[in-house]
Amino acid sequence: MNKYKRTIVTTALPYANGPVHIGHLAGVYVPADVYVRYLRSKGEDVLLIGGSDEHGVPITLKAKNEGVTPQDIVDRYHNIIKKSFEEFGISFDIYSRTTTETHYRTASDFFKTLYEKGEFIEKESEQYYDEEAKQFLADRYITGTCPHCHKEGAYGDQCESCGTSLNATDLINPKSMVSGSVPVMKTTKHWYLPLDKYEAFLKKWILEDHKEWKANVYGQCKSWIDQGLQPRAVSRDLDWGVPVPVKGAEGKVLYVWFDAPIGYISATKELTPEWEKYWKDPESRLLHFIGKDNIVFHCIVFPSMLKAEGSYNLPENVPANEFLNLEGDKISTSRNWAVWLHEYLIDFKDKQDILRYVLTATAPETKDNDFTWKEFQARNNNELVAVLGNFVNRVVVLTQKYYSGVVPSKSILEDFDTRVLNEIVDIVKRVEVSLEHFKFRDALKEAMNLARLGNKYLADTEPWKIIKSDEERVKTIMNISLQITANLAIVFNPFLPFTSLKIASMMNIDNSKWINVGEIDMLAPGHVIGTPELLFEKIEDEQIQVQLDRLASTKNFNAMSSKVAVPLKDDVTFDEFSKMDIRIGTILEAEKVAKTKKLLKLLVDTGIDKRTVVSGIAEFFEPEDIIGKQVSMIVNLAPRNIKGIESRGMILMAEDADGSLTFVSPLKKVINGSEVR
Ligand code: 2FM
Ligand code: ZN
Repeated sequence: MNKYKRTIVTTALPYANGPVHIGHLAGVYVPADVYVRYLRSKGEDVLLIGGSDEHGVPITLKAKNEGVTPQDIVDRYHNIIKKSFEEFGISFDIYSRTTTETHYRTASDFFKTLYEKGEFIEKESEQYYDEEAKQFLADRYITGTCPHCHKEGAYGDQCESCGTSLNATDLINPKSMVSGSVPVMKTTKHWYLPLDKYEAFLKKWILEDHKEWKANVYGQCKSWIDQGLQPRAVSRDLDWGVPVPVKGAEGKVLYVWFDAPIGYISATKELTPEWEKYWKDPESRLLHFIGKDNIVFHCIVFPSMLKAEGSYNLPENVPANEFLNLEGDKISTSRNWAVWLHEYLIDFKDKQDILRYVLTATAPETKDNDFTWKEFQARNNNELVAVLGNFVNRVVVLTQKYYSGVVPSKSILEDFDTRVLNEIVDIVKRVEVSLEHFKFRDALKEAMNLARLGNKYLADTEPWKIIKSDEERVKTIMNISLQITANLAIVFNPFLPFTSLKIASMMNIDNSKWINVGEIDMLAPGHVIGTPELLFEKIEDEQIQVQLDRLASTKNFNAMSSKVAVPLKDDVTFDEFSKMDIRIGTILEAEKVAKTKKLLKLLVDTGIDKRTVVSGIAEFFEPEDIIGKQVSMIVNLAPRNIKGIESRGMILMAEDADGSLTFVSPLKKVINGSEVR
């Protein structure tokens, strides 16, 4: 039990320029939801705050690319994200957005307060400016040649080829990614939060007073602080965002990372007139659930902003997670390497709890972790179906069969039964302790152990074998099994809310009160339970294959796109091109060239003559399969001698991402000798 009267839990606001994926869910939303559901079931006063982050340069660029407004982009994705969270059971008290009027006012006022208190430094600096697009350029939107490895396509903040972090001014031949023009240097004024001024405070507050924070969070903070903090600009030259509320700041907006965390406050304001109590009363506790890329903003920058303002509580904890990978690769929105929540909800309708289960069981709590579809299937089939579903189903079916659904009494307890009853209490305690310490994987493992205990108890006592011979004993066994089931409804409520509700309805109890948990007399004798309902079903290989195929085609597509991006060959003149005589011909004969793996000897009817061509396609085609095929062929290529055979011409092939070859053939049959031009 914590010492606070109320808790406000915030979840990182996802950018509204794409849907959310399993990486977001595992890192932030599932653990936050588990935690909040747990606190609620303990009767605590808690708010779960979320919303879309709708500012920032990427949104403006996406809008530009699509020829729509930034508002169109954020409207589209905010709605998709909000709907998918709802359907997935993330129980936000409010899911807002940073384009609301309340947010603009709140962020603007926050800036003004700091401005009037003299907390900012005003500084002029030279920055790249795109004269064609008439805008200053964030480092990320300038590309050029890396000064270190001399590869083209390095970004203004980093070269992805050699990994060096850069300043845009380091780039050789810089180019604007917005218009493609060469940017120029221009002077601009911005407001900076002098983080260096907060160094001593941060040192004490985090490094001394919050040693209990997760090692990954504490470690990252320490390394930032040890490196020394610099003033950070909190404004940008951009026309999309909250305008800087200062005279002479026309055309400037608050930096997205300044306004976004204030979004937590705006959302709370929209939710309740008592918002200040949650944010400012010393008896309230603030917790930020985020991914590891957001640690510096939530542990260093936002707390410094709150400290500068002076009237807000600082976060009590920031239980940030590491990253979740997908099938061994980093999740990437731009490469479409992700499992998207809105698609999952279609492909696995009404199966929210499976994903919630797997993402918690494999959560990247202490280090990066990998999601694989095979593990998803295995955890469903071997744990949810075989352990939890199986136990609950057996208990309900047997109770209906033996007692028409009426809970029997446990009259005589053997030592063995008492040990099992004690074990229920111990397991529940362990779930609780793990949850309190943000150890959701451990907590879930323990919850599952309760179902395992139930299965083992039934297997050890085998009531079906003694129902005729020892009725009293079976009553005790079934009573205890029912108490385990009722406890399962409650301990699984934070993790698997949909399933928990089903178990509770089968047990005919209220699953929302943690208070009752561990009670070994939750169901009084005579209580009538409901009828059995299937909790989980097996996931077949075919369903998993569909997902794997989808990822494989994404991989191929990406490989292909990166191939296409290989620089084009040098220009040729039209005259040079015209020298090539390309014709359609039909393959008449085909045979393998002896002692080679790759070569086929073909006889081709070119419409002009019948000639022999040696082609390196034997790995992809059987000779008998290609006879009769129409193909494109260069017929005036000088004859070459290949393995002792004179080859007169070359068959044109298209090479796919995986290196496989396919013929370049006319879409309809044409006369042999037709010219390709
Ligand atoms: O990294 C992100 O996706 C950011 N949009 C998170 C913002 S969290 C908060 F500050 F709003
Ligand atoms: Zn480089």
